[in-house]
Amino acid sequence: MPAIRRAKITDLHEMQNCNLWCLPENYHFNYYLYHYLSWSELLHVTEENGQVVGYVLAKMDDEPDVEVQEAHITSLSVLRTHRRLGLANKLMNYAHDAMELTQECDNVSLHVRVSNRAALGLYKDKLKYQIADTEIGYYADGENAYKMRKDLVRRGFPKKAPEPAAVKRDLM
Ligand code: ACO
Repeated sequence: MPAIRRAKITDLHEMQNCNLWCLPENYHFNYYLYHYLSWSELLHVTEENGQVVGYVLAKMDDEPDVEVQEAHITSLSVLRTHRRLGLANKLMNYAHDAMELTQECDNVSLHVRVSNRAALGLYKDKLKYQIADTEIGYYADGENAYKMRKDLVRRGFPKKAPEPAAVKRDLM
């Protein structure tokens, strides 16, 4: 069974290749690099015999809200030869864990083609995402997208150090 692990910088080309095999939404290599340099802990791959056979590429919101931390799944795919093994489900769960633990995320969103039965099954039925909106003509070929969202639970350490008074009170 292919293992899941955090992506390394040396995986980025293979992630890009996997994307090219699987999806019409493709990105310049610099976009993978941008994700890696900004949020490396959110990127995961699944590999077999040293070859990347699936990946999840995720990021934090470009225009962050002070109160609400939002993450976004940019892209997910698994090579046709390795589908229906539970790999995408695992990749997504690893990404969700990293969002909660390292970024203290409150929710995660993604876009998916309204016709993508496999991905909708995964997001709706397995991962309990909900449809937040339908974006008309979102894709380059004019197809509509569902914007889907899922609530997360912050599980990381608080970023702000506690106030000295609170520390003193706790010690007393
Ligand atoms: N038909 C219906 N439901 C499916 C299918 C399918 N062909 N494939 C997966 N599912 C659903 C099922 O609920 C499945 O659970 P089950 O096996 O217990 O029934 C669940 O998804 C989990 O399946 P996994 O085995 O984890 O999924 P897999 O590893 O096969 O990957 C994926 C699913 C990523 C959608 C794959 O089919 C793929 O790479 N497709 C092409 C790329 C793509 O569409 N990516 C998503 C685009 S949206 C975005 O990137 C944000």
